Amino acid sequence: MAEVTLFENHLLSPEVQSLLPNGYTLRALRSGDYERGFLKVLEVLTEVGNHTKEEWLDQFNYLKQHNHEYFTITITDDKKDKVVAAGTIFVERKFVHKNGLVGHIEDIAVDGNQQGKKLGLRIIQALKYIGAQRGCYKVILDCSEKNIPFYEKCGFKQKEYEMAWYVPQGTVAKL
Ligand code: ACO
Repeated sequence: MAEVTLFENHLLSPEVQSLLPNGYTLRALRSGDYERGFLKVLEVLTEVGNHTKEEWLDQFNYLKQHNHEYFTITITDDKKDKVVAAGTIFVERKFVHKNGLVGHIEDIAVDGNQQGKKLGLRIIQALKYIGAQRGCYKVILDCSEKNIPFYEKCGFKQKEYEMAWYVPQGTVAKL
């Protein structure tokens, strides 16, 4: 079966591609990234779960059907044909700002052996480019305190506070 790409290449910044080390390529997520270790790279973030190929394709196909909202990108090491970095921008539609669009950056991950080579920075630059191309008036994200200096280097400023409510498992949720 032919490989499917999440979205079209014109949303990928040529400038970011030109700044990558030799042998590394910026791409939209591909259906074959299951075999290229995409989920393994996400393990630097949190527990990922053991997806079967079918479970992977379920999610990939959902994103593909909503590819005006979900833009997941990768950087691959071409020689090894492996994903080494990844990130997503989700484009939310709002009423405020006259039906404005807000980009949410999520799940930025660089393989543990590849950190410190500016791949994280390139992923963020590429996601900011997509957000701007799609007409977002701002791009925001949540992060831990230790990652603040990284995001400042990527051109972000600290604003507001993150709040979270984790849904209790196994009982009726107490609201
Ligand atoms: N503290 C201070 N500076 C940092 C840090 C840090 N924790 N991380 C990177 N930087 C600096 C680098 O030194 C570099 O600075 P320079 O330009 O002066 O040399 C600049 O930020 C760019 O660094 P990169 O080399 O692009 O960083 P890297 O490729 O390692 O990616 C990342 C950074 C994404 C945080 C990576 O280390 C990683 O995957 N960490 C584990 C997962 C994680 O925390 N992801 C972010 C979750 S938040 C979210 O997803 C919205």
